[in-house]
Amino acid sequence: MMKKHIFKACIMIASSAVMLPLMAATQLTADINAGKTIANQGGGAVAPCMTCHGANGEGMGISNFPRLAGSSQYYLRKQLEDFKSGKRQQALMQPMAAGLNDQQILNVSAYYASLPTPNLTKPAVVDPAIYAAGEQLAENGDIARQLVACANCHGPRGIGLPPAIPALIGQSSGYIEAQLNAWQSGNRKNDDGGLMTEVASNLTAEDIAAVAAYYSSVRQTESTP
Ligand code: HEC
Ligand code: HEC
Repeated sequence: MMKKHIFKACIMIASSAVMLPLMAATQLTADINAGKTIANQGGGAVAPCMTCHGANGEGMGISNFPRLAGSSQYYLRKQLEDFKSGKRQQALMQPMAAGLNDQQILNVSAYYASLPTPNLTKPAVVDPAIYAAGEQLAENGDIARQLVACANCHGPRGIGLPPAIPALIGQSSGYIEAQLNAWQSGNRKNDDGGLMTEVASNLTAEDIAAVAAYYSSVRQTESTP
């Protein structure tokens, strides 16, 4: 039952989100070059994004700074707006987003969306049994426990379902784990319809470690790390 409900909701979010950027585009037009300047040089009180998110938006796994490159403009913009409004809370990112106006948020989102999604340069070395458990849950779910497959929304191998559903491939295990724990504890609650809150609430710590290990090391074309 949960599976059906959540899958329908997922399609609804994915399709309604298509309309939003189109509507907003009548007011603001993205300037990718201006976005690149913010990413590399910052502006005003805002630090260059690259100091934490890497020279090409590839992220810094070791510090749990997420990959931005290749995420959709819609998703990145939504996250920045949520940090700015306080709907998504995080001590490092809230001041960054607060220092950007709507045009700058659009520009920098468009810039990172224009970059290719990289594989992590140094994929995590993971225990094959944990990887296999993560792959099983991510790609197939667990019917006995009524756990829906992450792939239903995030696509096979976590390639994402733009615009609303982010890719998980290329994110570090630490970042993925931190986000799932944040939803579980209620620290992150900016997901429309509470989809991720519901998903995360049904996961054990072992599930979280396993899917994080899987997504941080899966490649777009291979089935094992
Ligand atoms: C001082 C380090 C730092 C700087 C500088 C920084 N960020 Fe971040 N950013 C973070 C951290 C840490 C997170 C993860 C927040 C969390 O755990 O919720 C994050 C998350 C994000 C996310 C959410 C990504 C996702 O997948 O949900 C976006 C978008 C983002 N940052 C954009 C930017 C932009 C644009 C800039 C430059 C204007 C910037 N950041 C500068 C540290 C930084
Ligand atoms: C019903 C659809 C749905 C399912 C199933 C689902 N997700 Fe999500 N997930 C989302 C949506 C929508 C977002 C974006 C939330 C937002 O806008 O902040 C998201 C975001 C995330 C993020 C944050 C990515 C980032 O860049 O910050 C992680 C991590 C994540 N999901 C992991 C998982 C895992 C692991 C599973 C399976 C156990 C899963 N999700 C199942 C819909 C889903």
